Amino acid sequence: MAKTMRTGWAALAFLVSVSATTLANAQAPAGDAAAAASASSAAAPADPNATFPFTNGSAQDGATKAAVCTACHGPNGNSTNAEWPKLAGQSAVYIAEQLRLFKSGVRASPIMKPMVAQLSEKDISDLAVYYEAQTPVGLEADPSYWKGGQALYLRGDRSRDIPACVACHGPGGRGNLAAGYPALRAQQSVYVVKQLTDYASGARYQGASNPAQASRNGMMMLTLAKRLSQTDMRDLASYVQGLR
Ligand code: HEC
Ligand code: HEC
Repeated sequence: MAKTMRTGWAALAFLVSVSATTLANAQAPAGDAAAAASASSAAAPADPNATFPFTNGSAQDGATKAAVCTACHGPNGNSTNAEWPKLAGQSAVYIAEQLRLFKSGVRASPIMKPMVAQLSEKDISDLAVYYEAQTPVGLEADPSYWKGGQALYLRGDRSRDIPACVACHGPGGRGNLAAGYPALRAQQSVYVVKQLTDYASGARYQGASNPAQASRNGMMMLTLAKRLSQTDMRDLASYVQGLR
């Protein structure tokens, strides 16, 4: 058991170092997070499967197509329902990938499935580009919980083989747009806890013979979420809800 954990850590440490390199490259022109976010827009895709940047997506067309999504994801992707994720400022690469996963049924959601059934690839690109261009607003960290979350987010916990979330999700929770690592800033904490729980139990992705391969990047979270306690998840979710 201990050995498996250590092997798991080695694999994760590798992934972290890869993505840290990606971040370092993106940050090269300037040191701060805002610059990294815009610099990464110009960076080459870290993964050949990533369709970044979207050359065929139109934020203007996406705005029209998003009308039906607004009922749940809120105006400009700022959901006010704790169980429905915010999409404002989310990585377009990530959004497009998740919409395809809902469509194929690999990410099982009885709510999202009918929403994506009729979407074409062009619709998916337009919606992804539109939501990435929006600004997340509202929500703050829960004052009782965020400190523990901040410690784990920034430093991880080596003794439990938990990597620092900041390596992939960034100091301001903006994710890594080019690599398609999702933004977590201002995300609904109830939604975040549900996703971490679903990664840990394997429920987030299904249908594929090997759930670890269900999504291009899913393996990272499947491995590390198993190491988080319910208290960790609550604290982390509270912290990221307050990130900007
Ligand atoms: C009836 C409510 C509802 C509507 C309408 C709806 N969604 Fe969703 N959406 C959800 C829920 C609930 C989830 C979270 C599913 C889960 O728990 O895994 C979700 C998840 C998502 C995600 C994944 C977000 C993430 O951070 O992983 C994307 C992307 C998304 N929706 C896009 C859309 C788009 C685009 C539309 C319009 C075409 C839309 N949704 C319409 C309820 C809705
Ligand atoms: C090695 C890179 C990496 C590290 C480290 C990492 N993540 Fe992730 N995270 C990802 C990727 C990639 C995804 C998207 C995976 C997928 O396709 O489902 C993701 C997805 C998520 C999601 C789901 C987002 C959504 O909108 O549904 C949450 C929540 C999350 N991570 C939280 C965390 C937390 C908390 C930590 C630290 C304990 C962490 N992550 C550490 C790469 C990472």
